[in-house]
Amino acid sequence: MNLPNKTLSHLRCMECGNTHDLNEPVYVCGKCGGLLDVVHDLETLRPYISKEIFDSRLGSLDAPYNSGVWRFKELVFPGIADEAIITRHEGNTGLYTAPKKLAAWTGASRMMLKHEGENPTGSFKDRGMTGGITHAMLVKASSVLCASTGNTSASMASYAALAGVQALVFFPYGNIAMGKLAQSIAYGAINVQVKGDFDASLSLVRQACPEFGIYLLNSVNPFRLEGQKTIVFEMLQQRRWKVPDWIVLPGGNLGNSSAFGKGLYELYQLGLIEKMPRIAIIQAAGAAPFYQSYQENFAERHAVKANTIATAIKIGNPASFIKAKRTLSYTNGVVEAVTDQEIVDAKAMVDSSGIGCEPASAASVAGVRKLIQQGVIQPDEDIVAVLTGHVLKDADTVINYHAETLESLNSPYANKLRVIDPTLEAVESLIRGEKMPTR
Ligand code: F0G
Repeated sequence: MNLPNKTLSHLRCMECGNTHDLNEPVYVCGKCGGLLDVVHDLETLRPYISKEIFDSRLGSLDAPYNSGVWRFKELVFPGIADEAIITRHEGNTGLYTAPKKLAAWTGASRMMLKHEGENPTGSFKDRGMTGGITHAMLVKASSVLCASTGNTSASMASYAALAGVQALVFFPYGNIAMGKLAQSIAYGAINVQVKGDFDASLSLVRQACPEFGIYLLNSVNPFRLEGQKTIVFEMLQQRRWKVPDWIVLPGGNLGNSSAFGKGLYELYQLGLIEKMPRIAIIQAAGAAPFYQSYQENFAERHAVKANTIATAIKIGNPASFIKAKRTLSYTNGVVEAVTDQEIVDAKAMVDSSGIGCEPASAASVAGVRKLIQQGVIQPDEDIVAVLTGHVLKDADTVINYHAETLESLNSPYANKLRVIDPTLEAVESLIRGEKMPTR
């Protein structure tokens, strides 16, 4: 069924309501500088959107519907021609039932893990990037820029190379996980360390893009969020559209939290889901400005000097603050903060369950545990925690945790690397010492 030949989406400012056409190369309001939303004409689109249509594309071999983002095209970028889509068949990530030991550690009777680290570049960013880069090409961008704690840059570098445009990346000085930096270098971006933190890099990006005519690919770009929404769409589809009680995810710049709320609200408006799940946004305690504001009922918008071992979410002044606040109101959501010790221990538990994730992702699981301990989440509730990045993104933290060499942190679940001589006796004493089962 072909979509009607009319404008199906436009951009609207969250602050002043000013609107823009999708063909304009804007990401913030031209009038007041506020955050823009992509607004879809849901009434016109309604006949073209159903669970059955989305389900009929599962298993498709052809682009773009073989992508876990573009399977939901009518809710992502309905007006775009299929040939114009830049895709790496992203999405299609696993939804695991957490192994019993891991669920029990959190106190949950059951928990599911949506593993976004299984995307092509190893993080959820690919879902937003396919949307962002597709729009960049629509408006004929020749270069793209982002500030990044590492995953956005890895993703952008890959998609820019695919589209044939030059990528430029600003990193905060130091503290980038090596796996991420390596990706961005490998995919051919121009990589720059900016002397300052992530927030300073993002502010520089926002000034430089309009000044030099470079397309901005941070999550203030609303097309990124349209792609990121599909994490929840796909997760619901994998659950045969059964809505969980809770979705728990890490919050840094708060793009993902914003996207989840918008996407769920659209599904609810269209009648594809019968209730809204509650969202829990988990920040690292050393980078928790949104949590601080939440605790004060948003009397003030906080910004902090961020510090956490979870470098992906080491962000002090989240750009999508207002949109994430909207997510809380749509979903009766909560915000919690977890310490670095809680993050690395949760990570060790996720990793040793065989599933594995990067430190920022483990904040989700640490958050589930804390919210159950506090009685906010009930142990028998239906919980989906989102793992945002792959275990190999930050191998240094894994090695240091298990070698007990993490600064100021303990390693209660350490799995130490052993060294032996190349003799059978040494193997025997190792096996005995470890009480390893043998035949
Ligand atoms: N988890 C991972 C693995 C991330 O890389 C990020 C953000 C987040 C969670 C937080 O998501 O910002 O939407 O709240 N990484 C960005 C980057 C900032 O540059 O890669 P958010």
